[in-house]
Amino acid sequence: MSNFKDILSKESLNKQDIIAMLNAEGDDKTLLFKKSREITDEQIGNKVHLRGLIEYSNVCVKDCFYCGIRKSNKKQDRYNISDKEVLESAIYALENKYGSIVIQAGERSDKAFISKITSLLKEIHKIGNGTLGITLSLGEQTLETYKEWFNAGAHRYLLRIESSNKELYTKIHPNNTLHSFENRLESLQTIRKAGFQLGTGVMIGLPHQTIENLADDILFLKAIDVDMLGMGPYIEHADTPLFGAENLFKTRQERLALAFKMVASLRILMKDINIAATTALQAIDPLGREKAIKYGANILMPNITPGSFRNNYKLYEDKPCTDENPIDCNTCIDVRMSMIGSTVGYNEWGDSKHFTKQKQL
Ligand code: 5AD
Ligand code: FES
Repeated sequence: MSNFKDILSKESLNKQDIIAMLNAEGDDKTLLFKKSREITDEQIGNKVHLRGLIEYSNVCVKDCFYCGIRKSNKKQDRYNISDKEVLESAIYALENKYGSIVIQAGERSDKAFISKITSLLKEIHKIGNGTLGITLSLGEQTLETYKEWFNAGAHRYLLRIESSNKELYTKIHPNNTLHSFENRLESLQTIRKAGFQLGTGVMIGLPHQTIENLADDILFLKAIDVDMLGMGPYIEHADTPLFGAENLFKTRQERLALAFKMVASLRILMKDINIAATTALQAIDPLGREKAIKYGANILMPNITPGSFRNNYKLYEDKPCTDENPIDCNTCIDVRMSMIGSTVGYNEWGDSKHFTKQKQL
C-alpha cells in the first residue's frame, strides 16, 4: 500500500495528512478524487440542489483589497435592483422549481438597507407560501439584524472568513474595525445564534497564502463545524490594490487545481455538509463547477440576477454568465448535470444534512 492510500484510510486526519492531500499529484490525486466521490455518493448521493443567485446590489461600505466592488473602486457603476425585479427573480426561481434562492449584495448595515431586506424577505415568503428556501449573503451584521432577517423567513447565511489566518487576513483587508478579523470570527457565531444554518469559506490561491495556510483553513472549518461551504479560487481584478501582488500560485490553472483538491479534502473531512460549486471556478474553466461536483460539491448557484445588472457585479475579472439571461442558463442545467452523472433535486430545499442531523439530536 502506498503512503497516500494509508492517509486516505485514516479515521482522523492531521495537518500533515491534509498538506499531503493538497499536494497530491498523478495517481495520488486520482485516489483523492475517487475517495471524495465515494464519500459523496454514500452520504449525499448524486443529487445536486439549486440556489438561484440574486446579486441584489453592488453598493458596499467595505474596501477589501481583492474585491472589484470595494468602496474605493470609483470606476465601478453602482446599482440596486428594484423590489419588483427581486420579486420577479424569486418567481422565476419558483416557476423553474429551483427550491431555494440566495440574496447576495455588497455590505451595508444602515437602517434603510436592513428594513428593505426584511420587507423583501416577507414578500418572497408570501409569494411562495414559504416554499422557497432563502439563503442570505449580506456581510457582517448585528445579532438583532440577523434575528430580524431570520424571523422574516431566511434560514441560511453565508459569510466567508476568506482566510482563517489572522496575519493573512490582515494583509488582504484594510487595518480598521470595519475589517477586523476578530469581528468576522465573532459574526460567524452570531449568525448561528440567530438560528441560521451557517456557511463560510475561503479564497484559494491568494497572494501571501501557502499550502500550510490552506491546511489550517480546512482544520478551522472542521473545528467550527460549519453546515455549508463556498470556496473558490482567487482571481485578480485590475482595479484593486492586490492586483499584481506576489503569489506562490502564479497561474489561474494552479489555483483552480488547488480549489478542486480543497473541495475533495473537505468532503473527506466533513462528510455531510453542503459544498457549493462556486462561480469563480467557472470563471477559470467553463466546466469548473461540473468538475467540482464530481469531486464532492453538491450545490449549484445559477445566476438569476436580471441581465442588465450582471455586468456590474464584478468581484473579479472574467466573471461568467454576465451576458446570458436566466432562460439560457436554465435549459442547460440538466444537460450539464447529466454529463457528470448527477441529477437535480428540483423543488427541494436541499438543506445541509449536517445541520438537520444535529437538530434531531
Ligand atoms: N477573487 C475570487 N473571489 C473573490 N471574492 C471577492 N473578490 C474575489 C476575487 N478577486 C469572493 C469573496 C467574497 C465572495 C462574495 O466573493 O470570498 O466573500
Ligand atoms: Fe465589499 Fe469586501 S469589498 S465586503
